[in-house]
Amino acid sequence: MNQSAAGSGPKKITTKVIASMKQEGKKIACLTAYDFLTARFLDQAGVDLILVGDSLAMVFQGHETTIPVTLEEIMYHAKTVVRGVDRSMIIVDMPFMSYQTNPEEGFRNAGRVMKETGAGGVKFEGGKRVADLVFKATQAGIPVMGHLGLTPQSIHQFGGYTPRGATPAEAKSILDDALALQKSGAFAIVLEKIPAALAAKVSRSLKIPTIGIGAGSGCDGQVMVAADMLGLYEEFQPRFVRRYANLADTVREAVGRYVRDVKDKNFPSRDESY
Ligand code: KIV
Repeated sequence: MNQSAAGSGPKKITTKVIASMKQEGKKIACLTAYDFLTARFLDQAGVDLILVGDSLAMVFQGHETTIPVTLEEIMYHAKTVVRGVDRSMIIVDMPFMSYQTNPEEGFRNAGRVMKETGAGGVKFEGGKRVADLVFKATQAGIPVMGHLGLTPQSIHQFGGYTPRGATPAEAKSILDDALALQKSGAFAIVLEKIPAALAAKVSRSLKIPTIGIGAGSGCDGQVMVAADMLGLYEEFQPRFVRRYANLADTVREAVGRYVRDVKDKNFPSRDESY
């Protein structure tokens, strides 16, 4: 484990630590990971929350939306992430239709994720409509993260990726949903692609932390898809993505050199042989 990146902070991130970070005004850093190797880098670099997001349907599996990924698939990825992590808290996205049919099925599936993957919590999209499920899960000891605003599992209903919460009615319903999730026991809420002023208002209105993505700096933490911020996923780049590296070019360049070396008979050398 990398204690230096984690600083003098706590050894293992828990819901209790996340709650205290909001109280102490410390920002929460969250990124996605779908595999052992990436999870290990993120953990070593001091990321607080690692989300095994259903964005893996797009970034890892190459689908156009998050909808196709299955519970079994996300559980497979979650297990690999868990093996790479010492300090971060791992949250697993509950895939489309693994919890929407009824609270009992969602509860059972969330229980499977906790029991079979070793993750620290689950995430559901939606507000009041999942409040009963959130209550049931948290009563059973399952930490739940909510997700409001542009919830990608509803993309076909929204009809596109335009920001949510722009009208007074929609803004009010996002705030009401956030309060309902908090009341039901959620420990944090992702706010995706909503106006910064609304996200700041929701964050001030809640005791639990908000984790923003395209929701401005007033949130208690930020989340990004790791492949976006590392410059690996090139299909599209939303305005809220800040590129911290351009790994796609790095990988192409390195692989290109390897291919040339093999074809030119420059690899392997005598030193690289037995
Ligand atoms: O699936 C995902 O990666 C997410 C984050 C973008 C919040 O839900």
